[in-house]
Amino acid sequence: MTNQKGGVGKTTVAINLAGALNDRGHDVLFVDLDPQGNATEGLGLLETYDAQPPTLLDALVEPSAVSLADLVHSHPEMDVVPSNVDMNAAESTLSQEPDGETRLDTLLSAIEADYDVIVVDCPPYLGMVTDNALVATENLVVPALAEPTSKRSLELLFDYVGALELDHDVEIDPLALVANRIETTREADHMLEWFEEALPDVPLYRIRKRVALQRAFADGTSVFAREEETDMQTVFLEMADMIEAAFELKEVPA
Ligand SMILES: Nc1ncnc2c1ncn2[C@@H]1O[C@H](COP(=O)(O)OP(=O)(O)OP(=O)(O)O)[C@@H](O)[C@H]1O
Ligand SMILES: [Mg+2]
Repeated sequence: MTNQKGGVGKTTVAINLAGALNDRGHDVLFVDLDPQGNATEGLGLLETYDAQPPTLLDALVEPSAVSLADLVHSHPEMDVVPSNVDMNAAESTLSQEPDGETRLDTLLSAIEADYDVIVVDCPPYLGMVTDNALVATENLVVPALAEPTSKRSLELLFDYVGALELDHDVEIDPLALVANRIETTREADHMLEWFEEALPDVPLYRIRKRVALQRAFADGTSVFAREEETDMQTVFLEMADMIEAAFELKEVPA
């Protein structure tokens, strides 16, 4: 879940897509790579944010010494590797390490067989931490607000991803664009058209502004674990269907 622009809904979409995939019966691992630890809080694990070492940073610095399995916390809907306050040093620490962009890839390779899907929430900037997520997953979902500033942020993001692909000899697939926090305005309608025209091959999902999403965050779950229903569940389930199809997660009858 990547967009270097802040506050566009990366964490909200990440938690609720993970919740939808769990609702569909998949085993999900959620990795909160953002030093802000918003997803850690939104999954009810805020107390782990100040946990003593070993933390996610230690694992990224020394994948041979600390496994992600050592850091996993269970949540009713998914397994979670929480962020930690010391992830604030991740950018500077990893930039001094050889192959600092490939540490998450090494860590996930060791445990990916235990899960159907791994969702990684990125911080709102491009650099070593986001590179780790993109190189490890080779996929991206881009939440963006339906407003004009999103044009430039998407152009910058896709240029950046293109350069990263060349540097690391990987193909990073844009799985989805998520227009988030949509309100009914002409500006939003215009931007939704722009999204469709700018990225015609990438499916566009439309998430409206809903207080139920904020209440679920405050409760430490996705909207799928709560009694209060929201019409946006359908959209997250459609995204889960797309993930199932893209990665052939459904068992094909013999
Ligand atoms: N569809 C929505 N409806 C209502 N509120 C939303 C919606 N999406 C996000 N929000 C709210 O907007 C704020 C920013 O969302 P969120 O934290 O998911 O963005 P982010 O891109 O992860 O931010 P950051 O860049 O800081 O990591 C939060 O307060 C969240 O509750
Ligand atoms: Mg966030």
